[in-house]
Amino acid sequence: MSNEQVRPSAPVPTTLPLSEIGKLIQSNPPNISYIQYDISLEPKYLPQIRALISKDLSEPYSIYVYRYFLYQWPELCFIAIDTTTSENDLVAVVICKLERHRGGPMRGYIAMLATQEMHRGRGLAKTLVSKAIDLMIAKNADEIALETEETNTAAMRLYESLGFLRSKKLHRYYLNGNSAYRLLLYLKPGVGQIPTDDFYDPFGYNDLPPSAQDDPRFPQGQADKDDLFRRGIV
Ligand SMILES: CC(C)(COP(=O)(O)OP(=O)(O)OC[C@H]1O[C@@H](n2cnc3c(N)ncnc32)[C@H](O)[C@@H]1OP(=O)(O)O)[C@@H](O)C(=O)NCCC(=O)NCCS
Repeated sequence: MSNEQVRPSAPVPTTLPLSEIGKLIQSNPPNISYIQYDISLEPKYLPQIRALISKDLSEPYSIYVYRYFLYQWPELCFIAIDTTTSENDLVAVVICKLERHRGGPMRGYIAMLATQEMHRGRGLAKTLVSKAIDLMIAKNADEIALETEETNTAAMRLYESLGFLRSKKLHRYYLNGNSAYRLLLYLKPGVGQIPTDDFYDPFGYNDLPPSAQDDPRFPQGQADKDDLFRRGIV
């Protein structure tokens, strides 16, 4: 858990009309609506996103990490809300980014994904991830990457059913000491051969978990090499 406290959010209407809280995309299953995130949703939904992710993912994420993703790539975050609740509560979220990887391929990256326990097994995560993938394809991504704990059967099955392949095992990748698989989805022929340049990532930041990316605790150029080593990354 991060020791950052959720800041009190600005007052929001008790029931937000869907037309005003984002781009309504579709409703499947019934009573679930999918919304493309927008910064204007932060007061209402960022606290809920943080609560859901910190409950379900072992890795602690500070507020900086959420803002790193949501301020730069808000459109690559999708949320599912339950329209039967009086406040259209958040029930699932995916958070992503898209940028060039070490001067090589345009790489989409799925940083966080979670579905509230009582809504699992209804296709919410698969729908959210599919929307993110579709948008990355529209934005000319070459490949999409992510990491997941090696023991996370639900996530592994979900991603492998979408075509992701295991590309690398990252020993003791997470702060809790658990190992991860890096999964890759190639979107174009020959993408695996696009050269990358280690000059762009001499300290291996791209092999740090999202909890460390752009986090002031891991300042660029001053990576704790022992920590990287402990995580089996170098
Ligand atoms: C992983 C997680 C996001 C899946 O969410 P979900 O909304 O229940 O997933 P979906 O209903 O969209 O399932 C999609 C596919 O995932 C796989 N899957 C989902 N839950 C599964 C489970 N408990 N066991 C095995 N496979 C599972 C299945 O292949 C499923 O497809 P199917 O229903 O056609 O068989 C959810 O379990 C969760 O929030 N876990 C905790 C957080 C987490 O692990 N996040 C992923 C980090 S990488």
